[in-house]
Amino acid sequence: MDSPFEKELLFSRMVIETRVKELAEQISKDYADREPLILGVLNGAVFFVSDLVREMSIPLKIDFIRAASYGSGGSSSGFVKFTKDPELPIRGKAVILVEDIVDTGLTINQILRKLRERAPESVKVCALIDKLERRDMDVVIDYCGFQVKKGFLIGYGLDYNEQYRYLPDIYAIVKRGDL
Ligand code: IMP
Repeated sequence: MDSPFEKELLFSRMVIETRVKELAEQISKDYADREPLILGVLNGAVFFVSDLVREMSIPLKIDFIRAASYGSGGSSSGFVKFTKDPELPIRGKAVILVEDIVDTGLTINQILRKLRERAPESVKVCALIDKLERRDMDVVIDYCGFQVKKGFLIGYGLDYNEQYRYLPDIYAIVKRGDL
């Protein structure tokens, strides 16, 4: 079946691999004397988390949350609930929240707010992509893979209508027709 759009390679699997290793080294240094809880946001961060933790050189725990926007207007509503809660305890833990992409910043802000209610020792944000164009809210991204100015990206966990997450490289969609 014809793809409904053209796509343009943005970050190859090798470029991603190199950057993920650098992030893992940095986090391992920063958390050398601690055992962080790596909290991945499903589904988009699944490959990023699994590659990141396997490059880390410190003891750590892994858990996942799933967050869904509700209210009017999809992700831009800014109200998020956990449709999958963390299962490991958050209280007193050094949490590193791992996201695929930060766009407006609303989702990550809501997730952070909900996590902080659970009294972690600290929460830092690690995002593979920091997409700047539509940022509505201040977000501190402590560990950032790549910054992009704009565009809609797919691959390496990023989806378009739940498709294309499995692509090993990251592409920008080049719009075609009425997409
Ligand atoms: P935000 O609340 O606007 O920051 O939206 C963040 C969420 O929107 C991400 O976790 C993704 O699920 C989705 N998203 C935003 N931009 C993209 C993109 O370029 N590709 C795929 N998903 C995206």
